Amino acid sequence: MELSEFDRWQARFAAPGYLFGTAPNAFLKSKTHLLRQGERALAVADGEGRNSVFLAEQGLDVLSVDFSPQAQAKARVLAQEHGVTLRFEQADMTAWPWPTEAFDVVAAIFIQFTAPPERAKMFAGIKHTLKPGGLLLMQGYGLKQLDYKTGGPSDPAQLYTRELLQDAFGDFSSLDIREYDSVIQEGSRHAGLSALIDLVGRK
Ligand SMILES: C[S@@+](CC[C@H](N)C(=O)[O-])C[C@H]1O[C@@H](n2cnc3c(N)ncnc32)[C@H](O)[C@@H]1O
Repeated sequence: MELSEFDRWQARFAAPGYLFGTAPNAFLKSKTHLLRQGERALAVADGEGRNSVFLAEQGLDVLSVDFSPQAQAKARVLAQEHGVTLRFEQADMTAWPWPTEAFDVVAAIFIQFTAPPERAKMFAGIKHTLKPGGLLLMQGYGLKQLDYKTGGPSDPAQLYTRELLQDAFGDFSSLDIREYDSVIQEGSRHAGLSALIDLVGRK
């Protein structure tokens, strides 16, 4: 029997430890100066919670959404260990009812699990759920990542290009899209020289 995407993620997260580590994503951390205490944040496909825990530690009120209960169990432990409270929702983000203008900050870190039509819907959802002026912090892999093979999807259609992000979020203000190579060590699944694309922008 072929495993579904859900089963695959559940099986990955069933292994002991944190697949993507417990430290926050380096790009997200580098944007701490843009975060304000009390802001409402959404961590999209947040997995084991490293990024939502970091946001909560900065004083934000954070909703962590992922479809994997295995990952969310680990996120709960991480939050407890760090003495922060998160709100959780277990949901398929390709079918999530994105609440209207509900969040000051959306963190979308390595959420490249969808084919282009579902990705377009998720990007539309991100826009819809940000308050006017709300901040999007997104990081993913670029096409060159196919050569590096140090993490991420192997289907080129799931990787980002500057043009793709510019098309999707070109109407944002203060839009800053950066493409670069960097050595990252974010758990065992994201390790080594990586082709990254960062996006910072405000709705
Ligand atoms: C590469 S991991 C990144 C996790 C987290 N954002 C981080 O940076 O540590 C991708 C995450 O997407 C989740 N995921 C995959 N497909 C999903 C879907 N359709 N709906 C919600 N979460 C999904 C997986 O469970 C996994 O936690």
